[in-house]
Amino acid sequence: MKYYIETYGCQMNVADTELIICILNDAGYKYVQDIDAADILLFNTCSVREHAEQRVLGRISNERHRKKSKPELKIVLLGCMAQRIGERLIREDLGIDYAVGVDQYKALPRLLEQNQGCLLDFDTNENYQHLLPVHQGEHCAFVTIMRGCNNYCSYCIVPYVRGRERSRPYEDILQDLQSAVKRNMKDVTLLGQNVNSYHWKDLSFPALLKRLQEDVPELYRLRFVTSHPKDLSDDLVQVMGDGGKLCEHIHLPMQSGSNASLIRMNRSYTYEQYLNRVKALRAASKDIAITTDLIAGFPGETQEHFEATLSAMREIEFDYAFCFKYSEREGTAAAKYQDQLPEELRLSRLQTMIELQREITLNKFRAQIGKEVEVYVESFSKKSMRQVSGKTRDFKIAVLDGDRSQIGTLVRAKVIAATAGTLICE
Ligand code: 5AD
Ligand code: SF4
Repeated sequence: MKYYIETYGCQMNVADTELIICILNDAGYKYVQDIDAADILLFNTCSVREHAEQRVLGRISNERHRKKSKPELKIVLLGCMAQRIGERLIREDLGIDYAVGVDQYKALPRLLEQNQGCLLDFDTNENYQHLLPVHQGEHCAFVTIMRGCNNYCSYCIVPYVRGRERSRPYEDILQDLQSAVKRNMKDVTLLGQNVNSYHWKDLSFPALLKRLQEDVPELYRLRFVTSHPKDLSDDLVQVMGDGGKLCEHIHLPMQSGSNASLIRMNRSYTYEQYLNRVKALRAASKDIAITTDLIAGFPGETQEHFEATLSAMREIEFDYAFCFKYSEREGTAAAKYQDQLPEELRLSRLQTMIELQREITLNKFRAQIGKEVEVYVESFSKKSMRQVSGKTRDFKIAVLDGDRSQIGTLVRAKVIAATAGTLICE
């Protein structure tokens, strides 16, 4: 039986898809990239925002016509959305045959054999011990180190659909990294909803970062995502300052610059505390790039609160910010808040945020002009076969003249121009 899989949402889902490919391949199924050739279509979904859910439903409604000419074709909904509303979606007869919730993936082959509809009693202890995901990247790999989240930020569905935090054993992470490096993926990002909560036996997150650098000498670069500001310890700041294979970049979601909003978001830090962490990071690692997530139009956000976020953006000057319009998620604490903002206001604030960040990002990228950077070349550039493209240590896309021989290598280059997303180098 051949299967085709599409992934929505965050990098965690991309990594989960690699795990699902490993599970299905072991059970004798064959992964194909051509949807026309597949007997099973899987959709690994995201529930963080409503828009992500709508996109998947749109995709499934576009593909269900295939059942007319191939009645045995099965459509499987996986992941957060299956966990959240899979049962209901199957009842609604949208063409979905199976719904498999988060961390039920090991049971997927059995489900397909038994012709059963839903598998949603998720095992919150599952950490897929001894399973080696099939990484699909060519030069970069994403390795999960912990699953779940205990934080219950008031807007967020993740703790409800992904369960409690649990860490992956060191031996499994090591093996995963070693196999990635052997297959030439030398830029590895460690993944988790809250990586700095990693804890396996006596091993803390900063200790894990040190140990992996020692134990995998062939690795070029190590990164991690995502960190919660409240758990960003001085130990971690120090390890970041040590450099080595650990890259000068941290993704540190701020969400809002207003203390009133931060309290109602249940983020457990004030803006001042967040700023203190930013300063500590910059003191330890002068050129560290800091990226963030921001939410526009959270319930009860006044113009003053919103302006506090804009002024925090100006003060900190993030290298990049993922800006999101607040999306009500059924079952979360914030969805019950009475002071939801009108859609137009959320949207106009989002646009203001994006425009401001664009300016800041452009300035940040322009400030690199004249500097020498290290680029890990990953591919030809989209525009020309005479140019190659890759990333700097601080997670900026760089393009430079080059050829095939540079792909997969580290090159030194000088930045000669910049846009708000790309460094032009020579
Ligand atoms: N609405 C808008 N953005 C959200 N995020 C999480 N939940 C919501 C929501 N309900 C954003 C946060 C988080 C990122 C992954 O998605 O900024 O950091
Ligand atoms: Fe969601 Fe907050 Fe957990 Fe991130 S830390 S996954 S925003 S609850």
